Amino acid sequence: MTDHQDLYAELLDVAVEAASRAGALLRDGRPAHLGVAATKSSAVDVVTEMDLAAEKLITEVLSERRPDDGLLGEEGASREGSTGIRWVVDPLDGTVNYLYGLPAWCVSIAAELDGEAVVGVVEIAPRGERVHAVRGRGAYLNGRALAVRPAPPMDQALVATGFGYLRDRRAHQAEVVAALLPRLRDIRRGGSAAVDLCDVAAGRLDGYFERGLNPWDYSAGALIAAEAGALVAGRPGAPAGPELTVAAPQGLFEPLQEALEQLGAWHD
Ligand code: IPD
Ligand code: CA
Ligand code: CA
Repeated sequence: MTDHQDLYAELLDVAVEAASRAGALLRDGRPAHLGVAATKSSAVDVVTEMDLAAEKLITEVLSERRPDDGLLGEEGASREGSTGIRWVVDPLDGTVNYLYGLPAWCVSIAAELDGEAVVGVVEIAPRGERVHAVRGRGAYLNGRALAVRPAPPMDQALVATGFGYLRDRRAHQAEVVAALLPRLRDIRRGGSAAVDLCDVAAGRLDGYFERGLNPWDYSAGALIAAEAGALVAGRPGAPAGPELTVAAPQGLFEPLQEALEQLGAWHD
């Protein structure tokens, strides 16, 4: 860590600038009659003009301040880098909430060094919350150090999840939730994976799981949850990823991961 201290500080500064400016653009610039600009993987997988505007702004900040780094943005921004750093950007996570005016959306920006997230910033602009983490240095919400809740027994756990945009995947996700719900305190579906992971970090949720995430959905939030003390992984023995992402404190993580394995939460 000490070797990278100056680099991590610079990456955090750049991520905060990009995320805060994009968050302000989305919050203050939302058109009164915002419409769907395009659909992606299915008719309910939407993109608005504001997703595109936010990604453009973030790309400009990153290009100006870290021109030699790589970039992967949800809305198509992509470039190879030469520094070992790659930025992973969801310019608007929770687009459907944003479209409807529900206040659960954010900007999610991670910096990866040789494939591992080392800095994450999640700007939850509608809440006035900036959540960040630096690998090995903890997670913070508006400067306050975060820690997960102590693990409850699984039948007292409040667990969030999300659903993909494809019909067959959703049908199976509903079966998994139907089987899990009687075994938990309750389930939440907030509509932003990055916000969910930050809420685990802040002790506002006991756990979170989802199948079908992309790196831009979880890279920053997974680092934040882990730095707040959560275990974050995929199927048993596998890292968090598109197949499955599970986050919860030790003691809840294990039975939750086991239940998800048995229920086949990792397949469609
Ligand atoms: C989505 C949100 C949602 C999750 C989906 C994601 P988007 O991202 O994070 O909570 O359930 O899997 O695709 O489309 O709003 O950027
Ligand atoms: Ca997303
Ligand atoms: Ca998005």
